[in-house]
Amino acid sequence: MNEQISSRRRELLKAGATVGAAVCTAPLMAGAVAAQPATATLSGCDAMDLPVLSGGRILGSGDFRMEVSALGFGVMGMNYNRGPHPDRKAMISLLHQAVDRGVTLFDTAQVYGPLINEALAGEALHQFRNRVSVTTKFGHRIVNGKYFEGQLDSTPANIRRVAEESLKRLRLETIELFYQHRLDPAVPIEDVAGTVRDLIREGKVRRFGLCEVNSQTIRRAHAVQPVTAVQSEYHLMWREQEKEVFPVIQELGIGFVPYSPLNRGFLGGGITEYTRFDTGNDNRNTLPRFTPEAIRANLAVVEVLSTFGRTRGATSAQVALAWMMAKAPWIVPIPGTTKLAHLDENLRAARLMLNPAEVLELESAVSRIRIVGGRYPAVQQMQVQH
Ligand SMILES: NC(=O)c1ccc[n+]([C@@H]2O[C@H](COP(=O)([O-])OP(=O)(O)OC[C@H]3O[C@@H](n4cnc5c(N)ncnc54)[C@H](OP(=O)(O)O)[C@@H]3O)[C@@H](O)[C@H]2O)c1
Repeated sequence: MNEQISSRRRELLKAGATVGAAVCTAPLMAGAVAAQPATATLSGCDAMDLPVLSGGRILGSGDFRMEVSALGFGVMGMNYNRGPHPDRKAMISLLHQAVDRGVTLFDTAQVYGPLINEALAGEALHQFRNRVSVTTKFGHRIVNGKYFEGQLDSTPANIRRVAEESLKRLRLETIELFYQHRLDPAVPIEDVAGTVRDLIREGKVRRFGLCEVNSQTIRRAHAVQPVTAVQSEYHLMWREQEKEVFPVIQELGIGFVPYSPLNRGFLGGGITEYTRFDTGNDNRNTLPRFTPEAIRANLAVVEVLSTFGRTRGATSAQVALAWMMAKAPWIVPIPGTTKLAHLDENLRAARLMLNPAEVLELESAVSRIRIVGGRYPAVQQMQVQH
């Protein structure tokens, strides 16, 4: 296995000589993550130096801790909710390139597709099962491959069914981290946690996670089965989690995985009021924060990030990711992409170390901007606890 990987690395380094200039969208530093400088910078750009992640992070604690790369990879957009499906082979190859660059945390869910996103992750990543973790989620009502929009199902029988089926699609013997995707008001969280605890005892699942929950739910679940990570939306335009969720997860030793860390690409700066999202396969069409009016107003946030990054050799996306990584060592963002240039750009954010004054500077600049548009339409908003 290691030989296979080093030979892939060698191929990549060779390829880097020809594509490096295009890939190098931001300057980068070689080697391990540097000690924290007084002011953040990204310096030096060597076409041969791929942004290989070094130094990981830990989600959770005790028997249920999980060592992962400093940034993960959200697989969802490779065939769901982020526009037309790119070529499957190209996506598999991109996932391999992420592995080559040291990413060890990949995120998918039963509902993405539904089912096809897990199948893609399984096909691409099962061969690396000893060194990467693919995390997945249960909790939506999906019957015979059909998703019933807005309907939830976290009954113990369904959790067990999803675990069995996800294992097959992912081509794994155990799910490293199994999240409840959305709280099901019809099933007490203790029953959900108890079911996952039983699956852990049976060896089908290794760890438990929750998405978009409040502090009471976290405490109740954690009392039954220790939670390794909470996965919720978090970025400079949505910091609600800091108020009551962060203190509790810090107290209980739980990790945090920000999803949509670039606010679904918005913080990357390529989206304008004229951007049109695919009507068949892009949920940004339905999100209040992605109407032309909201985009026009909220671009002020991207401007803050770009201005901050300009003097530090960093892009707005890198500043967005570096900001959240500077907030706490137990935060591991999972940006998604279909492009190698963006993957490399995002991974290089791990080398942009912001000091506390810079973190505050960004937060105070963004707090002066009135964010326009809610994050979810009504039905989806009812399923999140904030
Ligand atoms: N638990 C939950 O409820 C939940 C909900 C949503 C998402 N998630 C997870 O979070 C992951 C990421 O979320 P997401 O895809 O919604 O949002 P995201 O990571 O914030 O943004 C992804 C979008 O940003 C673009 N992008 C990536 N890097 C970029 C860069 N450097 N510059 C400019 N644009 C860039 C991508 O387009 P390109 O392809 O063009 O790069 C893609 O359209 C998902 O894959 C999924 O695993 C979880």
